[in-house]
Amino acid sequence: MFSVIYALLAFPLLTLTYAQQIPLLHPQPDTWNSTLNPASLNFTNTGITSSNQTANLALTLNFERSNWAFSSIALDDFYTSIPSNATTLPPGSILKVQAFTNTTTYTLPPNVALSRIMYTTQNLRNETVPASAFVLWPFLPLSSAEYPGLSNPNPSINSTKFPVVAWAHGTSGIFAECGPSHIRNLWYQYSAPFTAALAGYVVVGVDYQGLGVNTTSNGTGIPHPYLTVPAGANDLIYAVQAAQAAFPSKLSKEFVVMGHSQGGGAAWGTAVREATNPTVGYLGTIASSPTTNLTGEIALHADVVPPTLGFFWAEAIRTLYPNFNQSQILTDEGLARLRLAKEQGMCNSAVGALLSDFPGSDNGTILRKGWNTLPEIAKYLSLCDVGTQMIKGPMLMLQGTEDPAVPYLFTDASVATTCAAMGNGTRWSGIEYARFEGVSHVPVLFAGQRVWLEWLAERFGGVGKSEGGSGCVVRNYTSMAMPAANYQKELGYFLELATQAYQVA
Ligand SMILES: *[C@@H]1O[C@H](CO)[C@@H](O)[C@H](O)[C@H]1NC(C)=O
Ligand SMILES: *[C@@H]1O[C@H](CO)[C@@H](O)[C@H](O)[C@H]1NC(C)=O
Ligand SMILES: *[C@@H]1O[C@H](CO)[C@@H](O)[C@H](O)[C@H]1NC(C)=O
Ligand SMILES: *[C@@H]1O[C@H](CO)[C@@H](O)[C@H](O)[C@H]1NC(C)=O
Ligand SMILES: *[C@@H]1O[C@H](CO)[C@@H](O)[C@H](O)[C@H]1NC(C)=O
Ligand SMILES: *[C@@H]1O[C@H](CO)[C@@H](O)[C@H](O)[C@H]1NC(C)=O
Ligand SMILES: *[C@@H]1O[C@H](CO)[C@@H](O)[C@H](O)[C@H]1NC(C)=O
Ligand SMILES: *[C@@H]1O[C@H](CO)[C@@H](O)[C@H](O)[C@H]1NC(C)=O
Ligand SMILES: *[C@@H]1O[C@H](CO)[C@@H](O)[C@H](O)[C@H]1NC(C)=O
Ligand SMILES: *[C@@H]1O[C@H](CO)[C@@H](O)[C@H](O)[C@H]1NC(C)=O
Ligand SMILES: *[C@@H]1O[C@H](CO)[C@@H](O)[C@H](O)[C@H]1NC(C)=O
Ligand SMILES: *[C@@H]1O[C@H](CO)[C@@H](O)[C@H](O)[C@H]1NC(C)=O
Repeated sequence: MFSVIYALLAFPLLTLTYAQQIPLLHPQPDTWNSTLNPASLNFTNTGITSSNQTANLALTLNFERSNWAFSSIALDDFYTSIPSNATTLPPGSILKVQAFTNTTTYTLPPNVALSRIMYTTQNLRNETVPASAFVLWPFLPLSSAEYPGLSNPNPSINSTKFPVVAWAHGTSGIFAECGPSHIRNLWYQYSAPFTAALAGYVVVGVDYQGLGVNTTSNGTGIPHPYLTVPAGANDLIYAVQAAQAAFPSKLSKEFVVMGHSQGGGAAWGTAVREATNPTVGYLGTIASSPTTNLTGEIALHADVVPPTLGFFWAEAIRTLYPNFNQSQILTDEGLARLRLAKEQGMCNSAVGALLSDFPGSDNGTILRKGWNTLPEIAKYLSLCDVGTQMIKGPMLMLQGTEDPAVPYLFTDASVATTCAAMGNGTRWSGIEYARFEGVSHVPVLFAGQRVWLEWLAERFGGVGKSEGGSGCVVRNYTSMAMPAANYQKELGYFLELATQAYQVA
């Protein structure tokens, strides 16, 4: 009512005011605002000769760079100026707080706010290393009606505080530039972090060690231990503790861990960590489309896995073996491509273009045949798998049955193994496995949005169907309103920065 009256009043007033000057509107940009030229890339020894591929590389790099909120990590003092106490403080310490991050150049929904923190975490060699994370703030906390405080066995929640979700993103890449905290849409946008913040949670989103901050204070590089769950679990737990220390009057002590894909593995790994190394305030885990059995996947498909895994691991393995000779995994051509990827800070889109001449499988051109049988790889892989160990529940798993990235059969098997290891609910609070018929990898977060939001609210409300030793429950969800084939399958949009008012009409 008010707005109608306001519009009626405002219209004649506005039309009576004649503008002296009418600035020209800008067209919605259809070119990227980064202008890298393919000629500036060093293709020496990469074996790349196709002019289409070099053009694609420049295009995808420009796309990635246009999605940086500010600039390269290398030029952003927040990530490059590392306090000297970064390797001496215990893990979980706060090193730096940027309470107000200017969101003008992020593509966030209105009425959320952003902070960035730098904190200490632990790498796979038990060394303390600095890492970065974002904190995405809601306008209002989860409604007090749903948030009355938990009963036994958890301590009471202070309902004047904001409930915390620790968020672990899926693969963005392995270099510093791939840290979500400097990407305009925080990498997973409405798939989870925006949605959780708008529902009333403070989202503590980890970059993961090696992404965002990529050196210690003395300049030693921090490789990203891609897909290893103990490192991801450390990053999550220590980010929560550091964020709580940074904002003690605002963040709840209680928290839920949530992740997708690579982050689903990290989240599951956190539930494993909690079983032996419990943290005050831990309420449970949501693991979506998780990587749980890479050993199995590689054993089955060693020579036909897309080269990305071996390519990333040749770099990532240095987190365990700093002097590892990468030519044990990569051919000369593979080494040259890794050099180029590193020089340019390539993330998912650009690495896709870099390896696009091997769409399905490598044939020994990039990865040395037998790379997967190296003992160092076996050791590394053993840190990537979950699904055989005890966990601390409750845990919600989300999985689509048409997920091309994480085949559901592996998740089915890992759930069954974990349930068996746990004695099927006789001495723990439960696992809820939600399977979504016909649903793909990231989209399961949309198909299952109601399920995970309700589950989250239950954790903070202290009630829930999975509490109290109810064991393993498998729920199969099918599309209810329309046949599965009628539903939009994948994300069909991206977020672009609006620079003019007419673009948000
Ligand atoms: C891209 O846009 C951002 C935000 O407007 C700006 O800070 C940055 O300088 C631009 N980059 C280039 C290369 O123009
Ligand atoms: C390109 O990379 C090769 C291999 O590292 C190096 O020898 C050469 O100097 C580089 N060229 C330029 C122009 O930087
Ligand atoms: C390069 O791309 C164009 C346009 O898609 C296509 O027609 C052409 O066949 C491609 N060339 C090669 C060598 O792949
Ligand atoms: C670590 O160093 C930074 C920068 O000097 C300082 O702001 C912070 O308080 C220190 N942290 C601790 C716990 O001493
Ligand atoms: C945020 O940054 C924009 C430029 O990107 C600037 O115009 C604005 O004043 C900044 N806001 C604050 C509160 O600093
Ligand atoms: C790191 O610490 C854990 C727990 O104390 C231990 O099991 C593991 O062997 C240590 N790893 C290394 C590389 O020292
Ligand atoms: C940098 O610090 C790390 C961790 O404290 C230490 O292991 C390494 O030797 C140092 N490197 C240099 C070049 O001082
Ligand atoms: C850290 O990332 C920046 C930005 O991409 C890059 O310039 C720098 O070489 C990286 N440092 C290390 C040690 O990898
Ligand atoms: C709840 O948190 C608020 C804000 O930090 C604090 O003022 C209040 O004392 C806390 N209440 C309890 C019961 O701890
Ligand atoms: C991993 O996958 C392999 C191959 O399918 C299978 O043999 C193994 O049992 C699986 N492990 C777990 C923990 O599910
Ligand atoms: C492997 O890839 C190279 C480079 O693209 C190609 O020349 C060769 O024919 C391929 N070999 C097989 C067996 O596919
Ligand atoms: C766990 O036990 C319940 C009740 O006996 C049973 O229905 C269910 O199939 C079991 N789940 C698993 C994964 O074994």
